Amino acid sequence: MKAIVLVGGEGTRLRPLTYTTPKPLLPIANVAFLERQLSWLARHGVDEVVLSLGYLPDAFVDHFPSGRFGDVKLTYAVEDEPLGTAGGIRFAAEQGGIDDRFVVCNGDVLTALDLTEMVRFHDERGAEATIHLCPVDDPSAFGVVPTLATGEVVAFVEKPSAGHAPTNWINAGTYVLEPAVLERIPPRLTVSIERDTFPRMLDRPGALFALQRDVYWIDIGTPEMYVEAQRDVLTGCIGLPPVDGATELAPGVWQQGGVSVAATARVEPPTLLGTGSDVGAGALVSGSVLGRDCVVEPGARVVRSIVLERARVASGAEALDAVVGSEAVLEADASVRDLTVVGAATVVPSGSRFSGARVPLQVAQP
Ligand code: GTP
Repeated sequence: MKAIVLVGGEGTRLRPLTYTTPKPLLPIANVAFLERQLSWLARHGVDEVVLSLGYLPDAFVDHFPSGRFGDVKLTYAVEDEPLGTAGGIRFAAEQGGIDDRFVVCNGDVLTALDLTEMVRFHDERGAEATIHLCPVDDPSAFGVVPTLATGEVVAFVEKPSAGHAPTNWINAGTYVLEPAVLERIPPRLTVSIERDTFPRMLDRPGALFALQRDVYWIDIGTPEMYVEAQRDVLTGCIGLPPVDGATELAPGVWQQGGVSVAATARVEPPTLLGTGSDVGAGALVSGSVLGRDCVVEPGARVVRSIVLERARVASGAEALDAVVGSEAVLEADASVRDLTVVGAATVVPSGSRFSGARVPLQVAQP
């Protein structure tokens, strides 16, 4: 079975991290998000994936130099201009020679959905397209998708006002499509599948179905969700261990390869220490992920935070509910808190304090 993964977006909500690394290649518990998604697709019988690219396409080619991920063959479809989700699907399908039923997923959705069951559901109903729906507590910020008992979609309701939503099931960004859907998408135009193509399909009864499954599902696209997804992976939401080959030093404390932890350091679960990470005397690492070769100097604190590879948290500095990009440095006594995101190779000066900030605010686009 073939799949298209939509990975062409700029990931603006995760800037400045996404200035240098496209969102799907950012790590989730030290494994590139896209690798987790490709593993999930492969477990459900996908053996060929077309990556629908636009933003920083070379990063993907560099990440998978053999054009394969395990048993999955990768094809690259690079858009000259952003074509939106539907335009991207049509273009990728043409580039990848897709002429049979296929799967599409957004390149930022981490889920434990049983895709095999979804494909079966799609086939049994003879659907032209099937959408996975997930429930949310407050649907007012989403588009909700009411269905009949058979699963047939009856409407799309964008951002229903509080208390007036016909349902709280939202489009979760995984689709099974017949090639016929491609003919509904005008070529080389910017078109959204969720806002344009799917609503138009309601004209033909029996074409569009949805599978409601309340399974683990998270969109990693905001700093809050990016941090939360990693904690979820560490606590087993999508299966343990969080990383192939990691070992559990103490309940909920994982390490990859050799790490150095001073006798007087505190490491509290759920935490993952990447290969070569170094936690100094009296330092605290709690509910966090340290990437490969990170250094947490004596007396520093990393709490509910994600520190990407080769970053350094100097003596007395703290990262609380923060994301620190690869090779960034928090100099002595610097403080980043409350979903502050520090870009790659950024130096946060000694003693400076940031709360809810993006550091730096702007960097030159590559
Ligand atoms: P934000 O800018 O933070 O909203 O992130 P994003 O750029 O990823 O946009 P969004 O989360 O709405 O996109 C959902 C999925 O579609 C992501 O996996 C994107 O990579 C992808 N995507 C969005 N726009 C395009 C596009 O024009 N072309 C392609 N190929 N993919 C796209």
